[in-house]
Amino acid sequence: MTRSCLRLHFLFVLLLYCVFASSVLKIDAVSGIAACSPDQIQALLQFKNEFDSRGCNSSDYFNGVRCDNMTGAVTKLQVPNGCLDGILKPNSTLFWLHQLRWLDLSHNNFTSSSLPSGFGNLNRLEVLDLSSNGFIGQVSSSISNLSMLTNLNISHNELIGSFPYVWNLTKLSFLDLSYNHFSGAIPSFLLSMPFLSYLELSENHFSGLVEVPNSSSSSRLES
Ligand SMILES: *[C@@H]1O[C@H](CO)[C@@H](O)[C@H](O)[C@H]1NC(C)=O
Ligand SMILES: *[C@@H]1O[C@H](CO)[C@@H](O)[C@H](O)[C@H]1NC(C)=O
Ligand SMILES: *[C@@H]1O[C@H](CO)[C@@H](O)[C@H](O)[C@H]1NC(C)=O
Ligand SMILES: *[C@@H]1O[C@H](CO)[C@@H](O)[C@H](O)[C@H]1NC(C)=O
Ligand SMILES: *[C@@H]1O[C@H](CO)[C@@H](O)[C@H](O)[C@H]1NC(C)=O
Ligand SMILES: *[C@@H]1O[C@H](CO)[C@@H](O)[C@H](O)[C@H]1NC(C)=O
Ligand SMILES: *[C@@H]1O[C@H](CO)[C@@H](O)[C@H](O)[C@H]1NC(C)=O
Ligand SMILES: *[C@@H]1O[C@H](CO)[C@@H](O)[C@H](O)[C@H]1NC(C)=O
Repeated sequence: MTRSCLRLHFLFVLLLYCVFASSVLKIDAVSGIAACSPDQIQALLQFKNEFDSRGCNSSDYFNGVRCDNMTGAVTKLQVPNGCLDGILKPNSTLFWLHQLRWLDLSHNNFTSSSLPSGFGNLNRLEVLDLSSNGFIGQVSSSISNLSMLTNLNISHNELIGSFPYVWNLTKLSFLDLSYNHFSGAIPSFLLSMPFLSYLELSENHFSGLVEVPNSSSSSRLES
């Protein structure tokens, strides 16, 4: 009698523990997207499904998502390394996420995609990291639309041509263009950008070398 009672008690505690543990795990898994509205979650899933995403599961993918807790709109998307494999199309669902402020797609495989001009629509972006993705072609001047941009990293791709004349990205603070095939003169407007504190141009085909007084700037200018 006592023994079965104990056993029952034990089972009950075990059951409670299981219920508790699974709800904690569930909350943990969705905490990143708890604030997201259903249509935004659907857009995020649709974006993932545009690619071969065997490199990551949904919980890994959604771990990098943050939404505005008032509007439910996606404000941050940090796709895990090696998650997405395929072509980033000009009509990708990504370009519906107009409230994005932070987008990190680095170390995925968009080999042979050119950089769609749709990035110009994401004009709330402050941080844009497209490094190490196999992007080809020229950088569209539509990025001059990204007036809030402080960090731009498009290093380690196969980008060619000259870097667009984005003189009006006045908040730009970090710019990494290294390890591409950019050519032409080093864009001199970069030197007069008010907040630019880190500039990496190495491993490209830029012509000429711009001398920067060592005392007045910490910029690295290499060709
Ligand atoms: C997702 O993948 C991570 C490792 O990348 C793993 O720890 C986790 O258990 C996986 N989750 C699911 C639901 O498969
Ligand atoms: C919404 O987020 C802000 C910061 O991003 C935070 O201060 C506030 O407490 C949050 N509100 C709710 C209801 O979670
Ligand atoms: C994008 O366009 C292609 C055709 O070029 C179409 O097959 C695809 O469904 C479209 N994707 C979206 C998200 O609209
Ligand atoms: C990246 O994609 C290209 C083209 O589809 C493919 O040839 C290559 O193997 C992929 N690389 C990796 C690391 O998956
Ligand atoms: C720039 O942003 C506006 C919305 O603010 C949009 O209508 C326009 O198409 C964008 N231009 C480019 C080149 O992306
Ligand atoms: C840009 O991305 C590359 C590769 O992901 C990384 O090594 C580099 O540190 C990044 N640059 C900046 C300024 O963060
Ligand atoms: C920067 O100038 C281009 C035209 O040169 C314009 O299309 C773009 O909207 C401007 N961006 C900002 C942030 O003013
Ligand atoms: C900067 O350059 C001047 C000569 O042009 C040199 O005397 C000085 O030591 C340099 N300062 C640093 C921090 O390298």
